[in-house]
Amino acid sequence: MKNRSSLPLYTPSSPSLPDEKLLYQNTDLNNNRSDDSGLSSRNVYIETYGCQMNVSDTELMSGILTQAGHRTVSHIDDADVILLNTCAIRENAEIKVINRLVHLNHRKRRKEDLIIGVCGCMAQHLRDKLLEAAPYVDLVMGPDGYRDLPMALNAVVTGDPFLSLQLDKNEDYADIAPIRKEGIRAWLTIQRGCDKMCTFCIVPFVRGRERSIPLDILTDDVKRLVDEGFKEIVLLGQTVNSYNDSQHDFGELLWRIAGVDGVERVRFTSPHPADATDSMIDALENCPEVCKQLHLPLQSGSTRVLETMRRTYTVEQYRDIVYKLRERVPQIALSTDVIVGFCGETEEDFKQTYQLMEEIRFDTAFMFKYSDREGTLANKMLSDDVPESEKARRLNEIIDLQEGISADINTASIGTTVPVLIEGNSRRNDEEYHGKSDTFKTTVFPKENARIGDIVDVTIQSSTAHTLIGEIA
Ligand code: 5AD
Repeated sequence: MKNRSSLPLYTPSSPSLPDEKLLYQNTDLNNNRSDDSGLSSRNVYIETYGCQMNVSDTELMSGILTQAGHRTVSHIDDADVILLNTCAIRENAEIKVINRLVHLNHRKRRKEDLIIGVCGCMAQHLRDKLLEAAPYVDLVMGPDGYRDLPMALNAVVTGDPFLSLQLDKNEDYADIAPIRKEGIRAWLTIQRGCDKMCTFCIVPFVRGRERSIPLDILTDDVKRLVDEGFKEIVLLGQTVNSYNDSQHDFGELLWRIAGVDGVERVRFTSPHPADATDSMIDALENCPEVCKQLHLPLQSGSTRVLETMRRTYTVEQYRDIVYKLRERVPQIALSTDVIVGFCGETEEDFKQTYQLMEEIRFDTAFMFKYSDREGTLANKMLSDDVPESEKARRLNEIIDLQEGISADINTASIGTTVPVLIEGNSRRNDEEYHGKSDTFKTTVFPKENARIGDIVDVTIQSSTAHTLIGEIA
């Protein structure tokens, strides 16, 4: 266990959010509290839904539980406790979890003392309504409540459900040591919460305000990760490049983390275009460990729609960042997020998105139909007026476009040689390794004498839309 209690917690000085009530609505729902004495050790199985931040939170939860004497298990049949670490970003994510809970209830009928908990963003979003939908759930806990997990497991034994839904703008879990699976790539949360107020997005309401973990703590974390054998560090934050611990900005952080002895590669996700500063671009251009890859969410190719989304940039400004990046880092791979069918999106707006994707030619894109989320600004102020069938058509059109572009870009890389960090055996063939190129493309090649964790030069011989296939040069 790390001891970082002597370090001051960073208190963000962020602009106030329009609906603070929703964020800090109460919540003194932590009923049934009792202390940890007499707590018996339990086997906990955690199932993770949603983004990489949730994967990272699961590692944090494992750290907290293990520290309190519990075990995390990898087979659900071994579990005394099943925790779902959930996502609220789109309706589908919540439907998936509700369906899963129905299945888990069957399991609970066979094993009466099984504890079922819902943690994370959907817990925070639906709050006590979750217990109406799934009354057999024992525990509902939002992303800032994980310190209460050991106490909660103890408390639910008395029978009543345990709710921990207080958002805490000071909670950064900086003193908790997450438990990670061994591997090559470690995900490191450098910032929690979000102060941007995109109208479509539930994140500020379920994860609270932005807070950055002090750089000295992160540097120590990275040294530890290197000692544990990790070679690549992926920095995580909702708007990761707005990082500021009141002494260092994101560019400084990149140089510092990349400078830790033994760090071979640094990536980060997801930056916000409005915070794409020169210091970030400088690190991408000049810091050898910072990979030549950027995921830069666009959301829409129509400035009008970007305005109703409150993205705080125009298409021209986004385009300028892309051109600047490509000028200074010619080999950079760009990926993005796009939403179609947002409130009021016309055919003309959609065409502008399509054309911008044609023009920019992202390496890859994550594409979504707009999903109305209760509690967001769009839900309150705008009308979800694009018919479902129209959303689906628009989505299919950009998926088809992007598949072709991704395949073409990969085909164009045939004959080039790319550095690949080897992660393990390829899924299909034990004679082959897989790893990621500097530009984050999955690359597969025969093993020869290389070892997992090596960075090797691979000459690309063929490709699909999502994979490069080659041989060590
Ligand atoms: N509907 C559809 N997509 C959404 N995203 C966020 N909120 C919504 C929503 N309500 C998408 C954005 C974001 C990604 C993580 O999820 O594109 O960048």
